[in-house]
Amino acid sequence: MSGGPGGPPAWRERPFIAADVPGVVDLFHRAFGRPTSAEHYIWKLRTRPTPVENVALAVDGNDRPMFHLAGIPCRVRLGNEDRWVMVAVDGMTDPAWRRQGVLTQVTSGLFDRWRAAGVALVLGLPNDQWRSRISALGWKPMFPLAWLVRPILPQKIIARRFGIAALADAAWVDGLWNRLWDGPAERGIVVSELERAGEEWSAFWRALRPRLGPCFARDADWINWRYLDASGAGFRVLQVKREGKAAGFLALRVRDGGGLIGEVFTSPDDLPAFAALVRSAVQRLSADGVAVVRALAVPGSWPYRAYRRLGFFSGRHAFGVHGVILDPAVAWAVWRREPGWQLSGGDFDAV
Ligand SMILES: CC(C)(COP(=O)(O)OP(=O)(O)OC[C@H]1O[C@@H](n2cnc3c(N)ncnc32)[C@H](O)[C@@H]1OP(=O)(O)O)[C@@H](O)C(=O)NCCC(=O)NCCS
Repeated sequence: MSGGPGGPPAWRERPFIAADVPGVVDLFHRAFGRPTSAEHYIWKLRTRPTPVENVALAVDGNDRPMFHLAGIPCRVRLGNEDRWVMVAVDGMTDPAWRRQGVLTQVTSGLFDRWRAAGVALVLGLPNDQWRSRISALGWKPMFPLAWLVRPILPQKIIARRFGIAALADAAWVDGLWNRLWDGPAERGIVVSELERAGEEWSAFWRALRPRLGPCFARDADWINWRYLDASGAGFRVLQVKREGKAAGFLALRVRDGGGLIGEVFTSPDDLPAFAALVRSAVQRLSADGVAVVRALAVPGSWPYRAYRRLGFFSGRHAFGVHGVILDPAVAWAVWRREPGWQLSGGDFDAV
């Protein structure tokens, strides 16, 4: 930390203040080589209720942010209790300050403060840049969160890839392909856009949670914050109702020309509701000329199997979900297999 005898400290950790947002946005650009926005940062990390400060910050001798790590505070159903879990995001050291132990030192202090405040678990998708720091900071590998891919406009993909111009207009291929996977909707099931989630969706979550393995609280608050209020993300939420009653929702957006499903949440094994949501998402995307849709799910989980039955192929890439156990009473959740965690891309900042 010291800049040498008599010199100013080279770097120091200090509390995050609102005026740090532009400096952290700059640091993000230097660390990841792509931009983010102040609005997105504030939405993601400064608007959620939290039992403890969720951001750790270190600055250089000019008070400029040079390290940052944060947790998105979430309520997670673990056994019969709702516990605080932090989803670790935006771990970054300025390229000029790497390999000097900044991540190691600041992160272990942050995890200690979270533990003292009653946070049960840290979840994250540490990438290969963490190297030896994954085990050094207590991360345990849990399971993969894998990409699934479904072509929506196969004629467009084939025409583009193989340069077959004649196929570009053969829209009947797409119709046939999509009908193959999406059968007719069950009677009484209706899908529509959800503008704002209210108490009905919190009640839906409360009724389902005893039947689920470990799962993020997917109540009205979650739907509104994660998808409808996500600054700059452009998520749309579709709701499915059966005989007028909430039966599930799907969050969807378009990124880099492809469709991305943040999550599909229905009662376990309610394939008709799951399929109705996916069918409706596919119809909306194909009407907008989007050729492919992707989703993330845990291989072996029921949503993963549902996606596979609906024409999604296993993608080549997967994230490795890791956990740091802060409260030994929830250690079981890290090793849990059946009924396993119900996780989706929307639980992280990967979608
Ligand atoms: C990942 C990242 C945050 C690591 O930050 P860092 O401050 O360099 O991390 P540390 O210095 O604590 O540890 C990094 C390495 O330096 C080593 N190290 C730690 N202290 C050291 C010291 N005093 N002298 C020499 N090496 C040291 C560590 O053992 C570790 O070695 P390894 O690469 O062989 O595993 C940084 O590389 C980064 O910002 N990457 C780009 C953004 C990114 O991808 N973030 C992860 C998102 S999931």
